[in-house]
Amino acid sequence: MRGQSGISLRTVAGILALVLISAASYAQTAQRAKPAVAHGASAASERDWWKNAVIYEIYPRSFQDSNGDGIGDLNGITERLDYLQQLGVDAIWLTPINPSPQVDFGYDVSDYRAIDPQYGTLADFDRLVAEANKRHIRVILDMVMNHTSDKHAWFVASRSSLTNPYRDWYVWRDGKGETATDKGAPPNNWQSTFGHAAWQWDETTRQYYYHNFYVQQPDLNWNNPKVHEAFKDILRFWLDRGVAGFRFDAISTLYEDPSLADEAEIKDKDGKPILNVFGDVRLDSSKTRNLPGVHTVMQEMRAAMDTFNPNAWPGTRVLIGETFARNAAELNQLYGSADKPEFHLPMDLQVLPAEMQTGSARLDVAQLRKNLTDAETGIGSNIPLLVFDNHDRPRLDMRYGDGVHDVDIQKALATVLLMSRGAALFYYGDEIGMKTTPPTRKEDVKDPVGLVGWPENKGRDGERTPMQWEGTAKAGFTSGDPWLPVPPSVSTINVKTEASDPNSLLGWYKALIQLKKTNPVLAQGANVMLDTDNTKVLSWMRQNKGAPVVLVSVNVTAEPQTVSLKLPCAGVCEWKLKTLAKSPGAVAPLTPERIELGPYGVFIGEAE
Ligand code: GLC
Repeated sequence: MRGQSGISLRTVAGILALVLISAASYAQTAQRAKPAVAHGASAASERDWWKNAVIYEIYPRSFQDSNGDGIGDLNGITERLDYLQQLGVDAIWLTPINPSPQVDFGYDVSDYRAIDPQYGTLADFDRLVAEANKRHIRVILDMVMNHTSDKHAWFVASRSSLTNPYRDWYVWRDGKGETATDKGAPPNNWQSTFGHAAWQWDETTRQYYYHNFYVQQPDLNWNNPKVHEAFKDILRFWLDRGVAGFRFDAISTLYEDPSLADEAEIKDKDGKPILNVFGDVRLDSSKTRNLPGVHTVMQEMRAAMDTFNPNAWPGTRVLIGETFARNAAELNQLYGSADKPEFHLPMDLQVLPAEMQTGSARLDVAQLRKNLTDAETGIGSNIPLLVFDNHDRPRLDMRYGDGVHDVDIQKALATVLLMSRGAALFYYGDEIGMKTTPPTRKEDVKDPVGLVGWPENKGRDGERTPMQWEGTAKAGFTSGDPWLPVPPSVSTINVKTEASDPNSLLGWYKALIQLKKTNPVLAQGANVMLDTDNTKVLSWMRQNKGAPVVLVSVNVTAEPQTVSLKLPCAGVCEWKLKTLAKSPGAVAPLTPERIELGPYGVFIGEAE
């Protein structure tokens, strides 16, 4: 404990030195973070950039390799910034780039303040941020706070003895019925998200530690205030380098119920336990997911980030959450309140679920409409962030394709994503329609989830294959041996081919992003569902007072459909339609009352 005596000269000198050092490093940072070109954006639009943002997720390992080792890297991303600028994205989110044993490909962080040498150096990172800024692109990092790598210095210290100061940074418990010679059973029935027991026996100190993910990813103890302080410092370290925000990883699992009570088993209608893909009995997650402490932590992180000036580049530093809410009401709580804000953009991962749909009607219009309506209306005036695809889910082709109309289906889904109100996030390769390509042999699997779950769960390699820049054997991704094989689909699905085809999926993404960014109604207008009994076509309008409404109709079937939209109007009114975008070859409709759509066809137009 510190005494109550007066502050010594030495302390004052120390404080002064610290102030000077921080002022100098702030000046450097400010210089580093400043864009090299003026973008003509107003302070308000810089501040509010996230409200209509298009965010592009990059899996750095798979995006672009610059040094021929077969693994993507930061300099590779820098090389591809012109492409991202042409695509029109506002921000890129990089999955973890910190030093890591790479057991979970970066989600096992062993040092939060450095760059993994596989990906480059801090200088490469600064250059990436500066070059991105020149193109008006912000950089968002992944922040893994639920757990660290077992090789992180905190855990190495923690596991070394029962009395080590870091012991309480992780979740350690005695086994059930443990004796001096017998480790007993794990403290309870909790399971790892990646299969089997979530407790690992550690012989040195003869206790179990808790890991919601792999054994090599011990959970941090968020009941320890020191853990909070450590992460606030880490956030500031990256924000000082010009980072525009974070995607907070696995936030739902930050806390565990202190009772350590067993979770209930989920039973089928005959009362029999249901097994998951790992062959474990499914549990209700009630003691390990979405506990109240998550809110307090996010309020704290938000307050720390809100100290950065939102009116200067890169604008508001945003908190994005990997949030698994079961419904809109739960999602709404993650925004916090006006006096205690939490996330700016908790992810809505429910509109297009990750679970594989089966049967012919994978895309059910009524369900999609309901999900979108919930996402829009269940969160008050907050801003939705729709996320359909990411590095943990089979890509859209596998979840929603029919093998015949895949490109049109993906155009339809991109329309739902980008023409709805709010922020939109998509995954590298979505814009060209990359196909999920899982390994065919267990010995080729890289993701340990696939090793534990094989053959039922082949892991996540299938959605992490190298970005397909051109139709060659190595896809323009590397000059070496790519860490995951380039899928055979590269010959037709690649940036080079699609960039020269105005009707390509890539062309469609660009057109939608351009519309989202330039049409004020699409940027800010409310979403109103139309023709809500229609079971084949999803239609909605975007509406802003005093401006023409924008209508969007998406045929969610493989058969041609004709819709007749009745727009609300006071007195007699005849609506004239101006086409903003439509599926190639479709007839431009003249009135909302007759819009013809081909299989999975789309129409977007202004009505006046
Ligand atoms: C998140 C990441 C996933 C990772 C896990 C553990 O769900 O998206 O890729 O394996 O957290 O960090």
